[in-house]
Amino acid sequence: MDTYLSWPVELVEGSGATVTDSEGRTYIDLVAGIAVASVGHSHPSVVDAIAEQARRLMHTSNLYPTSPALVLAEKLHALTGMRSFFCNSGAEAIEAALKLVRRWTQREKGRSATIACTTGSFHGRTFGALAATGQESKQVPFVPMLEGFVHVPFGEVDALAQAGSFDAFLVEPIQGESGIVIPDEKYLSEVRALCDERGALLVLDEVQTGLGRTGRWFAHEWSGVKPDVMCLAKALGGGLPIGACLARPGVASAFQPGDHGTTFGGGPIQAAAANAVLEVIEREGLVERAGRLGTFLLSELTSAFGAVATVRGRGLMLAIEFEAPVARALAASAFERGVLVNDIGTSILRLTPPLVIDEDQLRRAVSILREAWDETRAAA
Ligand SMILES: Cc1ncc(COP(=O)(O)O)c(C=O)c1O
Repeated sequence: MDTYLSWPVELVEGSGATVTDSEGRTYIDLVAGIAVASVGHSHPSVVDAIAEQARRLMHTSNLYPTSPALVLAEKLHALTGMRSFFCNSGAEAIEAALKLVRRWTQREKGRSATIACTTGSFHGRTFGALAATGQESKQVPFVPMLEGFVHVPFGEVDALAQAGSFDAFLVEPIQGESGIVIPDEKYLSEVRALCDERGALLVLDEVQTGLGRTGRWFAHEWSGVKPDVMCLAKALGGGLPIGACLARPGVASAFQPGDHGTTFGGGPIQAAAANAVLEVIEREGLVERAGRLGTFLLSELTSAFGAVATVRGRGLMLAIEFEAPVARALAASAFERGVLVNDIGTSILRLTPPLVIDEDQLRRAVSILREAWDETRAAA
């Protein structure tokens, strides 16, 4: 169906931070499958883990636990102290979080939950995630929305304080799909304090920001807070579909057998891939690398575009915002010159390269983006 505005290309191979099309042209990839290929395309350790697991056992359903999923739950527990529910996408991780919040609210407060969310947010396309997503344009074609959600402006703790009664606050530490919107440094800690005061859960959507992308394992570490519930997906499977809804034990226990489930979630191949991804992130120091290269890229972009656009980012999650609606034309020109970059809305370019990209590739990519800008401007 016509759900995507796809580029006119067939990508057939990928390695590290580059992909190659069916005509043999190679591109520096600043998209990474939208923040998925963090360890690089077809990382040998991930490929080996998938192949080995596929030869042994591909699927059991969650009626029969498998060791890759248990190991993955243990690894995530070691990183976060949280328990995991595995599913197949970011949207499903959000659905699990929303159901967990409702179940917890019934148990703790004996009523149905109100979940506060933010304007400009993006949480996915399924009905729960869509009701949480603070973008009218995405919701209006599919009304009526699910009940039990209120929206407050992102980045404004006072607005949340005035939102009336809420049982959970769902928020991205940095808004990704809206164009890398970074709130004030104190926002998350103030929000955490407000949730505690109100007896509400803090639910963080780290689907895009998680697993090293911002230069910390999880973006909330920048503000020193701990969430009650956290959603992961994207980078977790190295390209295979897997999502995870994590919760601290006292909240996770609200789910009882039969409350939630999925046939494929946490299947042995996806979990084996995720275990390999976590090992690669650790072994190759990719969290620290994302922070270091992010600082480098921010400075290169600021030199190239600071006079004509707003440049912002944290770690390897960056955006260039122009005043004019040039994003698609710029992305198209960059594509012709061998760089993949994601245009958002009409005036923003989003950069979420693989964390394994190197300085030389980033330098070349920025110089190509600058050429693309010069061409686009000349044509205007
Ligand atoms: C912050 C955030 N949450 C949730 C989602 C939904 O994830 P998925 O597309 O895997 O359903 C996305 C996807 O872009 C996202 O960026």
